[in-house]
Amino acid sequence: MSDLKNVVSEIKNPITNLSLGDENRIISVEPKGDDIYIKYNRDGITPDVKKTIENLIIDSLKDSFSEDNIYVLTESKSSQDIYKSTKSHNPNASKNPAQLKVGHGKVEEKKKIPGVKHVISIGSGKGGVGKSTVTANLAATLTSMGYKVGIIDADIYGPSMPMLFNRRNDKPEATEDKKIIPLENHGIKFISFGNFIHEDEPVVWRGPMLGGVLNQFFFETDWGELDFLLLDLPPGTGDVQLSMVQSIELDGSIIVSTPQDIALLDARKALHMFDKLGVHVIGMVENMSSFICDNCDKEHFIYGTNGVLAATNELGVGFLGSIPLELGLRKGSDFGTPYMSQNKYEGSKVYNSYREIASKISDYFFPNPEKKKGLLSKLFKN
Ligand SMILES: Nc1ncnc2c1ncn2[C@@H]1O[C@H](COP(=O)(O)OP(=O)(O)O)[C@@H](O)[C@H]1O
Ligand SMILES: [Mg+2]
Repeated sequence: MSDLKNVVSEIKNPITNLSLGDENRIISVEPKGDDIYIKYNRDGITPDVKKTIENLIIDSLKDSFSEDNIYVLTESKSSQDIYKSTKSHNPNASKNPAQLKVGHGKVEEKKKIPGVKHVISIGSGKGGVGKSTVTANLAATLTSMGYKVGIIDADIYGPSMPMLFNRRNDKPEATEDKKIIPLENHGIKFISFGNFIHEDEPVVWRGPMLGGVLNQFFFETDWGELDFLLLDLPPGTGDVQLSMVQSIELDGSIIVSTPQDIALLDARKALHMFDKLGVHVIGMVENMSSFICDNCDKEHFIYGTNGVLAATNELGVGFLGSIPLELGLRKGSDFGTPYMSQNKYEGSKVYNSYREIASKISDYFFPNPEKKKGLLSKLFKN
């Protein structure tokens, strides 16, 4: 194991010409079965240099691991420290951990969240269709396009964001004026029930209580300026969805479905709920649409072809795109680095699908090309 660490440590930072070892950047080199995970500190490293370093690391390990099994992860002090020592990095932070208000949520007039341009909910008819995976990766894609993105994980029954963003053990802190400071990773801010409740605790929350907490996630959280705030909803059409729609001005909703789920009408129910509540459905995403075999490269449509596309035509809603089943997506989720935050997947079918879906969302909300030019140039400054 230490041999592998030596190999990676000898790689040179192309800007300083010093090795990553000399710069003390290597945090961990961990082989796990067929995979290897390398984590290094990327403070002061620009996105294009990050890409070069990632390629150098992959090259250096290619003899021992297949390229697809090499995971290069980065950590930067600037984002890590927000959790470890919020006080020193956030002048508004207090020593007090954020507290949830579990009282009854008041149904007030729908309000906009100051500083947040567009709020989009991501819903589904049932669980396990990939809603949280789509939320996290869509957030990562929009971030890579230059947008500022946040996520509210409103899935009280199965909060996923702490795992998807590798922040399972972090407790959000509060500002002096008792606003929750969202957690952050890969440039994406998020807040989740999962960071307030213990993973094994039975969930005894009820609709009216949830309303209170959701209001807090919306209006008493320090979101700053965001282009998009994505809401990962619990599956189905229950209390959380109702509370949410009652308390917030939603700009649109996306429904995630598998080809088999749409056949079972679950996704249609979700669609009708939003329709009835007067929330515009931007479109549907088909997830797990096919399986591409790594040996023969053949695409297998296990649940038939274009099921969701056909349903959107029939239902008169937009179709945003389809995402195949992909091992890297599942692994990225389990390891806390979204697939779309990893440069090595650029150009893959999944990557292109997410780009296409995100472009449709970008075109829908920011139709002005001048604005987009500004965003593209931001890409190279970050
Ligand atoms: N396109 C995909 N390819 C491979 N695995 C996927 C894909 N989409 C989701 N998954 C995996 O399926 C499981 C359920 O996804 P999740 O996003 O948690 O669903 P939901 O939020 O709808 O309950 C997770 O283990 C996730 O990693
Ligand atoms: Mg989920």
